[in-house]
Amino acid sequence: MSSALETKLAAALASRDDRWIRRRLPDPATASSLALTDFTSNDYLSLASSSHLRTHFLNKLHLAPDILGSGGSRLLVNGQAHADLEDRLRLFFGAEAALLFNSGFDANVGFFSCIPQAGDVIVHDEYIHASVHDGIRASRVDKASLISFEHNSVLGMRVALRRASDRIGRSARQSVFVAVESLYSMDGTFAPLKEMVEVIEEVFPEGNAYLVVDEAHTTGIYGPEGRGRVAMLGLENKVLARLHTFGKALAATGAVVLTNNLIKDYMLNYARSLIYTTSLSYANIIAADASFDMLTDGTASHLSKHLLSLSTYLTSALPAALKAHNIPSSLVSLLYSLHPPLHSGSDDPSQIIPILTPHPRPLSAYLLAQGMNARPITWPTVPKGKDRVRVCLHAGNTREDVDRLVNGVVMWAGEVLLASEEKEVRAVSGDEWERSKL
Ligand SMILES: Cc1ncc(COP(=O)(O)O)c(C=O)c1O
Repeated sequence: MSSALETKLAAALASRDDRWIRRRLPDPATASSLALTDFTSNDYLSLASSSHLRTHFLNKLHLAPDILGSGGSRLLVNGQAHADLEDRLRLFFGAEAALLFNSGFDANVGFFSCIPQAGDVIVHDEYIHASVHDGIRASRVDKASLISFEHNSVLGMRVALRRASDRIGRSARQSVFVAVESLYSMDGTFAPLKEMVEVIEEVFPEGNAYLVVDEAHTTGIYGPEGRGRVAMLGLENKVLARLHTFGKALAATGAVVLTNNLIKDYMLNYARSLIYTTSLSYANIIAADASFDMLTDGTASHLSKHLLSLSTYLTSALPAALKAHNIPSSLVSLLYSLHPPLHSGSDDPSQIIPILTPHPRPLSAYLLAQGMNARPITWPTVPKGKDRVRVCLHAGNTREDVDRLVNGVVMWAGEVLLASEEKEVRAVSGDEWERSKL
């Protein structure tokens, strides 16, 4: 007989099964299959399979005095390699201070759980990452002081900031934190950072509202030598903290928060996701360092140029093919073509291209059968009615890969339309047969 706990857990999973939202680990064979075209991983620059980076990393490992483990928390053992990487990143990104975390998740939890103080207000984009929510939940900010605004809407943000201002009053004794991502991973949309900075400065002329930007999906791809969109727009001095992660385009693991000395020092004392965990191993640090060499030696700029040219190609080829085959937008469409420019934040190409469809699983399965790995994303990861197959492009993809993808989508849509027409014909003729019997 199962225990009460087992019954409850199993019922929750069964309910997810019924609603088609049960999460499962994908088949590991799809992660390593060379036969599958990768339209799904976050390895945007394809550095994970770069022989140049691999050789460079192995050479560095060979020469490094320490490779294994790290000996404990940074507060216990501060490895020279860790301190050196922080110093390098501080200079590279033009920040006063840099602080490493074991992951971007830990960094967001660490920052948001301790920096906003009791009585402060947090304003955030409705699509902000789960790790920011978790950090906020652990903070001393009360629920009534959390204000979200419509995705990427500068107007929505202004309204949220006015509410924040009403809440804390005119004095600058309390602070407001504004949390956004420079590129959103589910939608491929860019935050209009410049306009956001202007509104923050207008509503809070005393300077007690602070922008915090998560650059997880732009690191290595956008901005000079892949420094991200804050650097691309010259806003380094307008943000309180930037997060760059190493696990996506950089093919490593870990993250860095770029901020000022006071915030760094405070996090060293209060950020539990930093204090109470073993820091990244030396090998991890060497891997991240080797990846940053790819940014400074020009490799990443070259790769990101190709990556973004593929994005431009796909976003013009797919709508054209769908139109040519009379595929209705209710069956397949690009997210961008449905949303006003307000939501896309910028006309720049993005490596993340969501294909909206009410049938993401069948489309993804169809593409997989044709050797293409593009995953379905459904509620609760994205809002209801916004189900999609999310295409992540990679520097390792070719134009021919993109052509195959476009063909695959169009062929699938054509088959779906044909099947529904046949069903209609069958229904109509069945109807006639029924009537003929009268
Ligand atoms: C926007 C954003 N922030 C933070 C993270 C967490 O980064 P990491 O994978 O390094 O934990 C992710 C990754 O899922 C992300 O998409």
